[in-house]
Amino acid sequence: MSQADLNTLSLEQKASLLTGGGFWSTTAIPEVGIAAIVLADGPHGVRRQKDGTDHLGLHHSEPATCFPPAVAVGSSWNEDVAAKIGAALAKEALALGVDVLLGPGVNIKRSPLGGRNFEYYSEDPLLSGVLATAYVKALQAGGVGASVKHFAANDQETDRMVISADVDERTLREIHLSAFEHVVIEARPATIMCSYNRINGTPASENRWLLTEVLRGEWGYTGAVISDWGAVRTRPASLNAGLDLSMPGPGQYATQALVDAVLAGHVQESAVDQAVERVLALVDAAGHDDAAPDLDAHHVLARELAAECAVLLKNERGTLPLDRPSSVLVVGEFATTPRYQGGGSSHVNATRVDVPLECIEAHAATLGTHVIYSRGFDTQAEDGTALREAAVRAAGEAQVVVVFAGNPETEESEGYDRDRLELPPSQVRLIKEVAAVAARTVVVLANGGVVSLEDWHDDVEAILEGFLLGQGGGAAIADLLFGQANPSGRLAETIPYRLQDTPTWLSFPGEQGHVRYSEGVMVGYRYYETVGAPVRYPFGHGLSYTDYDVSDLRVRVDGPSEASAAVMVTNTGARAGKYVVQVYISTKAGPVRRPHRTLAAFAKVHLEPGETKIVRLQLDRRAFAYWDVLLARWVVPDGTYVVQVGENATTVLREQSIDLDGDGVAPPLSLQANVGEWLAHPAAGPPLRARMGSLMGGGGLDDDSDETHMVTSMPMIQILSLTGGAIDGDWLLSLLTTSHEEESTNL
Ligand code: BGC
Repeated sequence: MSQADLNTLSLEQKASLLTGGGFWSTTAIPEVGIAAIVLADGPHGVRRQKDGTDHLGLHHSEPATCFPPAVAVGSSWNEDVAAKIGAALAKEALALGVDVLLGPGVNIKRSPLGGRNFEYYSEDPLLSGVLATAYVKALQAGGVGASVKHFAANDQETDRMVISADVDERTLREIHLSAFEHVVIEARPATIMCSYNRINGTPASENRWLLTEVLRGEWGYTGAVISDWGAVRTRPASLNAGLDLSMPGPGQYATQALVDAVLAGHVQESAVDQAVERVLALVDAAGHDDAAPDLDAHHVLARELAAECAVLLKNERGTLPLDRPSSVLVVGEFATTPRYQGGGSSHVNATRVDVPLECIEAHAATLGTHVIYSRGFDTQAEDGTALREAAVRAAGEAQVVVVFAGNPETEESEGYDRDRLELPPSQVRLIKEVAAVAARTVVVLANGGVVSLEDWHDDVEAILEGFLLGQGGGAAIADLLFGQANPSGRLAETIPYRLQDTPTWLSFPGEQGHVRYSEGVMVGYRYYETVGAPVRYPFGHGLSYTDYDVSDLRVRVDGPSEASAAVMVTNTGARAGKYVVQVYISTKAGPVRRPHRTLAAFAKVHLEPGETKIVRLQLDRRAFAYWDVLLARWVVPDGTYVVQVGENATTVLREQSIDLDGDGVAPPLSLQANVGEWLAHPAAGPPLRARMGSLMGGGGLDDDSDETHMVTSMPMIQILSLTGGAIDGDWLLSLLTTSHEEESTNL
């Protein structure tokens, strides 16, 4: 709408466009031809409610395909998986009259207990950002807008509407904003959804630094910022911060508050106009397509994609794939009532659900394998003794036992966090007792957040971690068990030994209204690798039914702050499979503590038996950069960087060191800066080093000497007075001028 057209609208009309017209729709003004658009959850299926609206997953929604939730897509490490889901969702959304789908969620899994971890991809921002970008591009190419959420630092459910996430800026930039930045720049999502929580005391919905300075000013975002449902506290303050659309509606109160604020001069009418333009751009972009999506094809797709997401954690004695066993005992409630999604606003009314037991029976029938089922536990029952004893009795008879275990549905939902890492005690006991008598035991897990494997891990031969696989998960699991599909998922989050080992053990979920992100940038594997803490399975871990050889890493420096890597991967086994090449950077360069290892690039490649591929990966400057709080920018410091190809975050297969010149920037010097900062400065450092060297005995400055250590932490102004004129003040000031000239050229 042009300014001239905007002028035809009254202030009241404009304000009304900035608040929802209904629970899932924007405001229409039919008399001037402005239609409403529909927004709906997301992210792994369309949750379109026609009547009985709620945002907690309580009421009915129209049938839609339940694709693998983000926890599973994260484990696929495959952009194609995310893109195929985005493209299919666009078709279903359009057919259901949905213009903006509320997803993907790219918050970082700070703690394994986060109640919505199943809706998020990973503990790593690069993996999250890349997958979300593929999803958003495909969804929007299909004609449906995305809403990347929850912006930002919304990493827990406890007190989610009021908690203040107290996070330092480097941690925000490197970890918690990074995936959002990636998607905004690469995929230009139609909307960004601000979160409920406060960030360093300011509600996200009123955070101008976040919603305007960073998002629009630095990242160049031009789409609309919308609120999470009910996240707006004060409409004028949120508008001034950069929040365009307050949801849900109807919102007469918010509209009136905005009108009053404009009339009182607290909000500029031009700010209202700008927000209206952004909302109307969404309305203009909306298009409808009544073509019925092929739901059968989408179910097949959901199944194929699910098979790529499951992670084979353990496989001893070649237990999997099952090799035509004469009998299989299937145990567990989840074999007949699968867990395939979490609770809350993302809950989808699946078009159909594959039942693992039935899918196993279908495979078994073609092989002449006899399948027996024993329930083993009941998530609702008080006492599961009889069920457990029956399963243990049957376990002694079968050639192999497959136990379907996991977290009960009621334990994993939006709205609350988990309070333990372990499986329910009844299931742990069942697994142990079954494994004690069974010839071989396979455990198939269904859980939205990681669970501890302790106390039973060593008792079983194989563990297949399915997380939550969506409606095709049952068939996918059967395909994987029988070798129809080859596992290729990799952990997108670490499985720790104990909750006490996790980096947020002491700070999650906070207290008295604040959660302090005291782990800083050391989230997930960054922490475990940096402190050298052992974990049960590291980030990036996952087994296959074939073997791979990784060789011939070649790293090339492409510029002062850029490089590229090429590596050869061969499938040395007898089955086709997909291998995830993971490239990490390890460095001590720069003035801040860097994580011991950081994921810098990855790619998943399909390899036929015996096939070799050369995989090339770009390592752009962000792969080497840290956020410098003094310079308020990303900096690649000069120094040595080890480029590592990891089997996972712990095991390095190949590595090569490179030296980068970096950006050549340093924090501005002053006489208050300490001697160490002066010495590290690219322009002022070398002459000062020479002068100090000659003063301290003439043999050059010995960085390891006690004298040097003593002076490096002193402010330069002290040195001037303490050395009684040995270092000339005018000379130092001339160095200062040169250093500032150099900084302004480099910045
Ligand atoms: C959730 C969002 C969701 C919205 C609408 C909120 O409670 O945090 O993720 O999109 O409801 O259902």
